[in-house]
Amino acid sequence: MTPEVAATATLDVAAVRAQFPILQTRVNGKPLVYLDSAASAQKPLAVIEAEARFYRESYANVHRGVHTLSQRATGAYEAARARVARFLGAPDPAQVVFTRSATEGLNLVAWCYARPRLAPGDAVLVTEMEHHSNIVPWQMVCEVTGAKLVVAPVDDRGELRLDELARLLTPGAGSRVKVVACVHVSNALGTINPIAEISRLAHDAGAAVVVDGAQAAPHLAIDVGALGCDFYTFSGHKVYGPTGIGALWGRPELLAEMPPWQGGGDMILHVSFAKTDYAPPPARFEAGTPHIVGAVGLAAALDWLESLGQEVVAAHEQELLAHATELLGAIPGVRLIGSARAKASVLSFLVAGVHAHDVGTILDAEGVAVRAGHHCAQPLMERFGVAATARASFAVYNTREEVETLAAAVAKAQELFA
Ligand code: ALA
Repeated sequence: MTPEVAATATLDVAAVRAQFPILQTRVNGKPLVYLDSAASAQKPLAVIEAEARFYRESYANVHRGVHTLSQRATGAYEAARARVARFLGAPDPAQVVFTRSATEGLNLVAWCYARPRLAPGDAVLVTEMEHHSNIVPWQMVCEVTGAKLVVAPVDDRGELRLDELARLLTPGAGSRVKVVACVHVSNALGTINPIAEISRLAHDAGAAVVVDGAQAAPHLAIDVGALGCDFYTFSGHKVYGPTGIGALWGRPELLAEMPPWQGGGDMILHVSFAKTDYAPPPARFEAGTPHIVGAVGLAAALDWLESLGQEVVAAHEQELLAHATELLGAIPGVRLIGSARAKASVLSFLVAGVHAHDVGTILDAEGVAVRAGHHCAQPLMERFGVAATARASFAVYNTREEVETLAAAVAKAQELFA
């Protein structure tokens, strides 16, 4: 699609919605308004059917059999890896490791890349807007290596303080930062971070860059080359794919140096009781039977998402975000958390006098599904002086009318508690 066509094309939301059986259901007697796609996106028929078809026609274990079905399954699994590589702009499928999730991708980098390289006096830099999955693995690795965790703050809009990040990277700041672990899009605020600039700053300071792309993958075109990072990970279930599958991209020279983390079948070249020789990446990091059908479903999800046109999807979601920001922002007593200039379609908010969980419950009674809580980002909640927020997240299948239903339900919650 040429940029000109992309700019003028609009999304046929009704046609998109028709591909999601779950969106036709009613909840609490009301039509479902699903605004929790940042937690997990719903699945189109293309994904549901690709999985069912694979089980019906092609299922067997991979990399193990000479029989036809095993070869067919192996072909589909490896084709899925190539599909993920294309989605990430990676030049070679061998740079893509299938994982359980973005969380597992981050843990893999923490234990296999960072742990052997960290020592007392070193540091891992994270940002104040990280999800727990990009904090806790680093704390665990720091604990066993004696390295320190340092935190780049965010400002009142929820934007990363790049000046502070640069300062923490300078040798005078107290410790040598070896790894910068940063989210691409904040799950709680929607902030889009300037990863290319962060990569440049980190590389100038000799640090590697690990990006949590879980919330970016559904909304942005990803090109790991242009981002300049060293590792990039995302989860299938947030890009309309299955749960239990994700991927980690890594620079080949770094992956090649990394030891395995789990031992088992498929990650070896040769095993004897005296010694085991490991397979090269990506097999080295995929011990045991993988989530074969998950990989197939993920490839179908990426085909489906990209067939809509990523610019068209992004424009639609941005319109929903702008509409929601305007409507909720106009309700007295509603405080929006996170007003970064570059945002994905996530809107966190508080309703004065109503706990976020009560907001979530009242909205649910209206058929509106939002997430309420700390969003696995407790340090960020603390930064904004709140324990929890309600969060609406908008996906390709959401409509302006649903945004209006959300706003009406929020107003109703407020009245009930007045
Ligand atoms: N990380 C997911 C969320 O933000 C679960 O809701």
